[in-house]
Amino acid sequence: VPDDDQAPLKPPASRAQSKSRNSSVNGRLTADDFEFLDELGEGSYSTVYHGRLRATGQEYAIKRIDKAHLKRHQKEATALAEKNTLVRLGSGHPGIVRLHWTFQDEWSLFFVLDLARNGELQTRISRMGSLSIECVRYYSAQIVDALGYMHSKGVIHRDLKPENLLLDDAFRIKITDFGTGKILDSGGEPTKTFVGTAQYVSPELLEHNESSKSSDFWALGCIIYQMIAGRFVFRGLSDWQKIKQLEYSFPEGFDDQAQDLIRKLLVRDPDQRLGAGPPGSPWDMDALRNHPFFSGINWRTLWTDPAPPLE
Ligand code: ADE
Repeated sequence: VPDDDQAPLKPPASRAQSKSRNSSVNGRLTADDFEFLDELGEGSYSTVYHGRLRATGQEYAIKRIDKAHLKRHQKEATALAEKNTLVRLGSGHPGIVRLHWTFQDEWSLFFVLDLARNGELQTRISRMGSLSIECVRYYSAQIVDALGYMHSKGVIHRDLKPENLLLDDAFRIKITDFGTGKILDSGGEPTKTFVGTAQYVSPELLEHNESSKSSDFWALGCIIYQMIAGRFVFRGLSDWQKIKQLEYSFPEGFDDQAQDLIRKLLVRDPDQRLGAGPPGSPWDMDALRNHPFFSGINWRTLWTDPAPPLE
């Protein structure tokens, strides 16, 4: 990770105006500029804290990545990928966690991110058992919208799952954890690295170690199923054969339109999945947005409409 890693991101205005209070010599932020409050979560090589920028009082999620751990496990590329994809995505979409600044000290890399106060969607699903169909519709639409933006910027996530879908103050989705993110070159060709989480792994990843934009749509199908049924559609690598043969079933009473949508997302051929088709085709991004399951969604007001009650 380069040393000048704050280059693409501007320091806060109020900070620039109050130079005398700066604790860093070169005008860059340091850990001392933040008050570290509680711990929000722990990843395999990082810890996320709730922090406050002293100069403005603004609160953030601060991801601290241990450099020694990165080096020991040869994960430098992961941290760099996470930063590069977040920089590429910029502040362009409300459904994607924004990277405000990065800095480092001798031991750690720090990513200052949007704070999503209501935690992981996974926790909601576990706590509630499952979500109401209106909630599922709203969250699914927000994920679709954020994916559309992300893919239009040439970024694939490759590890979409309810643990990586955070909820902000207004219970709107914020996609996080781009450590497995990938910036596609202009062709959008599949990439050959095994990443992801067992329960959301697509057949092409299992069989050819390949993922593309389309693998994010497979994961979306798995997530929609899970939000409604309260359980995994496939249990993961132990269900390898089932994933490849699309062996799954819907519980009694499962919403018909959601079933239809999931059947069009959990398609073996990645090129045939709804949302993955070339623009203008009957299975392109517009076709996904226009699926009957989303007929109650107003895509223009999706990010200002209030979230439906959680129960
Ligand atoms: N846990 C991990 N990332 C987070 C974030 N950005 N906001 C809140 N909690 C988190």
